[in-house]
Amino acid sequence: SSDRLRHVDSMKLLPSGAGQISHLNAVILGESLASEENDLVFPSHDFSNQALVSSPEQYRKMYERSIKDPAGFWSEFASQFFWKEKWDPEVYSENIDVRKGTVKFEWFKGGSTNITYNALDRNIEAGNGGKVALHWEGNEPSDDGQLTYSELLEKVCQLANYLKHVGVRKGDAVVIYLPMLMELPIAMLACARIGAIHSVVFAGFSAESLAQRIIDCKPKVVITCNAVKRGSKPILLKEIVDNALVESVKNGVTVGLCLTFENKSAMKRENTKWQEGRDIWWQDVVPQFPTKCAVEWVDAEDPLFLLYTSGSTGKPKGVLHTTGGYMVYCATTFKYAFDYKPSDIYWCTADCGWITGHSYVTYGPLLNGATVVVFEGAPNYPDSGRCWEIVDKYKVTIFYTAPTLVRSLMRESNEYVTRYHRKSLRVLGSVGEPINPSAWRWFYNVVGDSRCPISDTWWQTETGGFMITPLPGAWPQKPGSATFPFFGVQAVIVDEKGNEIEGECNGYLCIKKSWPGAFRTLYDDHERYETTYFKPFAGYYFTGDGCSRDKDGYIWLTGRVDDVINVSGHRIGTAEVESALVSHPQCAEAAVVGIEHEIKGQGIYAFVTLAEGVQYSEELRKSLILAVRNQIGAFAAPDRIHWAPGLPKTRSGKIMRRILRKIASRQLDELGDISTLADPSVVDQLIALQDC
Ligand code: WTA
Repeated sequence: SSDRLRHVDSMKLLPSGAGQISHLNAVILGESLASEENDLVFPSHDFSNQALVSSPEQYRKMYERSIKDPAGFWSEFASQFFWKEKWDPEVYSENIDVRKGTVKFEWFKGGSTNITYNALDRNIEAGNGGKVALHWEGNEPSDDGQLTYSELLEKVCQLANYLKHVGVRKGDAVVIYLPMLMELPIAMLACARIGAIHSVVFAGFSAESLAQRIIDCKPKVVITCNAVKRGSKPILLKEIVDNALVESVKNGVTVGLCLTFENKSAMKRENTKWQEGRDIWWQDVVPQFPTKCAVEWVDAEDPLFLLYTSGSTGKPKGVLHTTGGYMVYCATTFKYAFDYKPSDIYWCTADCGWITGHSYVTYGPLLNGATVVVFEGAPNYPDSGRCWEIVDKYKVTIFYTAPTLVRSLMRESNEYVTRYHRKSLRVLGSVGEPINPSAWRWFYNVVGDSRCPISDTWWQTETGGFMITPLPGAWPQKPGSATFPFFGVQAVIVDEKGNEIEGECNGYLCIKKSWPGAFRTLYDDHERYETTYFKPFAGYYFTGDGCSRDKDGYIWLTGRVDDVINVSGHRIGTAEVESALVSHPQCAEAAVVGIEHEIKGQGIYAFVTLAEGVQYSEELRKSLILAVRNQIGAFAAPDRIHWAPGLPKTRSGKIMRRILRKIASRQLDELGDISTLADPSVVDQLIALQDC
């Protein structure tokens, strides 16, 4: 982050103070300003000329209209889709202010539609049935496949018919626990076609985490596969599901059906543990069903999916998205942020287990009729050139990934990149965490040959789609800045007291009005929805992120300000990791903080107090880490365990995380005032043990 601050300071040449967009004009017109000196990276004239939004003026006009007339603006985009019934004349209604009653957003209420129909049938009817919808690339470079729009629709219909056959109805939940096989988007689309609510659980989550989610949403069916290969090692997903289902039964939730895809390349069905009566092979039933399935028309405000995400308490939050607004929003953001053209080949490296895979692997691109690459493997297998090999193989034009992947690849020789052509690339994208300027530059210069604008998209599970993002042809970029708000998004920065602050400033990022893609509630817990997001700064949606605005109006995200850490772009609640550690019989207490990590962005640093009489040992360290892997998943394993005879607490017993963060990052001269601690001597003890 100091990198980023220096970078902002270096922008002396630009005038200060005024409104964000008028400045851009000055920037663009002042052509004598060399981009290097100003840290401004301009899109080429050729790029801008062909772009959907090609100048700051055009952005400003569209943005202003979207704010003055949201109903008219969004209705136009909504009209590009098929609606069985048109929405009510009022288009949207909202109460974002807790002081005025229940928080509630509605968009296109009264309209009825279906997102799968719009993503598939509509594109086929427009003559694109033969266009490739999904290119699938497996873990092994020789393992691939593809589905055209027509073929994809047939597969989706067969599964939809099967789900109906086993009793899944509109409004029922279905949990999907699958790796990045084509069956994952197929399962999502099949649920949406019949009005069932999908809840995808990232296949890196442990049985306990999966169980927790199953117990919360009580699905009719769980869809999984028997195993998946990571490198040379098969991971037995079905066994994880088995354990989760046993755990769910103990908690009063019995799932009657586990539909299991046989992933032959990872494991034969003969070797799969099986429970007769509950488990069914996908391949034995789904292909027998008709390839046409009537569409279930749903209200715009009917739920589309639930996706669990981490918050500041141990219990994950079931973020609920509805149909109409989400559909319009993720399609529109996709189109503009990536300057999408029908000839594009689009690849997003995210897993469908996260929101990025929902909005920008599945729905956003397919709603636009795009060809999407779905990749099941790892970016460094067989070697670090895999991504660029895939780019060349499919002639990828838009490549969307996470800073952690960029950082891990930039450590390797550039030769892994330059050995491939990459001439097809025209737009790059970044998501999940702030991208540090040096990673931005490597991505831009080496991967994109200094030709391709980078859309650094800031958004969240809760927002459904991009909120702050460059429009690649519209204005010059600053490496590391997410630039300006998307159409219709009123992003504001507030101070501690919740007052909006203007101009160059630093504070909390909030949103002032509803937008079509906003989540509508937390499943079964509207109170938590209001408390977490709408009470901290009354009158606003609070994002949980800190940010600053520079003198040109560019927005710079600075990371979470709550107890959430962002590890390789994955949101992890410190409380979740703490509760996993404390479940270990030899752990008395734990406090977890994030630390800077060269590749992962943030790493997990855990202070652990052991039970009376227990000695710290290497073996114990391993078993503590194992407890976290088992309870949450391998991606949440702590990077460091710091043995803590005691934790710094106030006299009222509150753990002082500020101090722990400083100790973890070795900023011992910045500990600040420790005199308010109940026992200040624990600080010295912790420092003494930091290398243990
Ligand atoms: C962070 C992922 C800076 C942020 C789409 C946010 C980012 C959290 C960016 C949401 C970005 C995401 N620049 N920070 N471009 N994108 N974040 O829900 O802290 O998994 O609050 O959604 O990731 O994570 P989530």
